[in-house]
Amino acid sequence: MEQYVIKGGNSLVGDVEICGAKNAALGILAASLMTDESVIIENLPDVSDINVLIQAMESIGAIVEHLDRHTVKINSSLISSQTVDSIYIKKIRASYYMLGSLLGKYKRAEVALPGGCNIGSRPIDQHTKGFKALGADVKISHGRISAQAEKLVGNHIYLDVVTVGATINIMMAAVMAEGKTTIENAAKEPHVVDVANFLNSMGANIKGAGTDVIRIRGVEKLHGTTYSIIPDQIEAGTFMFAAAITKGDVMIKNIIPKHLESISAKLIEMGCEIEEFDESLRVVASKRLRQTHVKTLPYPGFPTDMQPQIVAALSLSEGLSVVTESIFENRFRYVDELTKMGASIKVEGNSAIVQGVGRITGAALSAPDLRAGAALVLAALAADGFSTVDDVVYIERGYEDFPEKLKSLGAMIEKVSTEQELTKFKLKVG
Ligand code: EPZ
Repeated sequence: MEQYVIKGGNSLVGDVEICGAKNAALGILAASLMTDESVIIENLPDVSDINVLIQAMESIGAIVEHLDRHTVKINSSLISSQTVDSIYIKKIRASYYMLGSLLGKYKRAEVALPGGCNIGSRPIDQHTKGFKALGADVKISHGRISAQAEKLVGNHIYLDVVTVGATINIMMAAVMAEGKTTIENAAKEPHVVDVANFLNSMGANIKGAGTDVIRIRGVEKLHGTTYSIIPDQIEAGTFMFAAAITKGDVMIKNIIPKHLESISAKLIEMGCEIEEFDESLRVVASKRLRQTHVKTLPYPGFPTDMQPQIVAALSLSEGLSVVTESIFENRFRYVDELTKMGASIKVEGNSAIVQGVGRITGAALSAPDLRAGAALVLAALAADGFSTVDDVVYIERGYEDFPEKLKSLGAMIEKVSTEQELTKFKLKVG
């Protein structure tokens, strides 16, 4: 079984390049199905979630050519089916974006119902509410969701909760609907804006993305484009916390500092120095971190996708911190793993109460999901001695070359798949 083996203790120092945003890329890839002309997408991260979505797109007839590791050319003129096989949706929930894009273009789509995910219950009622408001007949049966319409007509849609997925899905379904659509209480995440910008570059007419009211005027068709995906806010934030937890000095490159403001603000409260440049940001942590309180919120609040990483860092801080999760109810499953390392954390309802300790020690750990897996790696980098992290497939869903990037900053980490490789690493780093 593949696992990461880590020896803690080194401060991370150096420069790291951040990839394109996975969660923007998932929406953009699905949206590329909406034109018969070729689309070139640049700055695509090479992570497994993206590669699964590409396979799902190929399975219905899209032709995807890899121009280089981070650039694809997509032609969707020969799409022969609007039914997406369940194997893809089982692997990645975001293949439900094909529902919005196929419905928007072909007025029909069918995908398997996304299953429960290990960060909590993830309903799709707001997606279906939006599709219905545009005139689609939405049916759920035999574990599948289908949506079809004679024609889609713009409407006024008020989302009951702020949801990234439903905002993106409804936006895609509405861009070629007749007339005007307004999405109120829309999500404002940078990746929502990126998908809107991408659709606009294909000829859509979307205004207001990044605010809580998005206005869409339907157009007849979309055309080809070349588009570069924004940098990944969460990958950048993860490396910022990697610098903080290891008392390091890291320059995070190829980023948009504005997207990282909530993360920078917390790191400053915790005693780090942050220097901002146009497209990079330096995090310097020279002393023990201080406690803070944080609540996850939709953008521009502190992201839920950074919650495990901040808890890992606070577990080594001075004082008592309370971290409240307000987006997903089951996102503290990694806490038991941190406890194995000697962290002092108690989960009460949707809050983790973290009593900082002076040191944590290496242990055998398992990644319960993507971001929690990354947080365990960060904890291991700051722990005394060796740790192993199993189930790295979760981490590889969203982080490109994670061990290699950490290694380039001086971390002692290796991906191994046999006992011999594990022993060899231990002998090498001593
Ligand atoms: C996106 O998930 C991200 N995934 C998640 O990142 C991220 O954690 C999340 O947004 C929040 O920022 C992708 O972009 C592919 P939501 P999504 O719809 O769209 C409730 C990662 O680690 N809700 O914004 O599925 C829902 O239960 C992943 O990269 C409804 O009630 O999240 C949650 O409480 C994990 N009804 C809240 O809204 C709905 O129809 C926000 O969910 C939809 C959502």
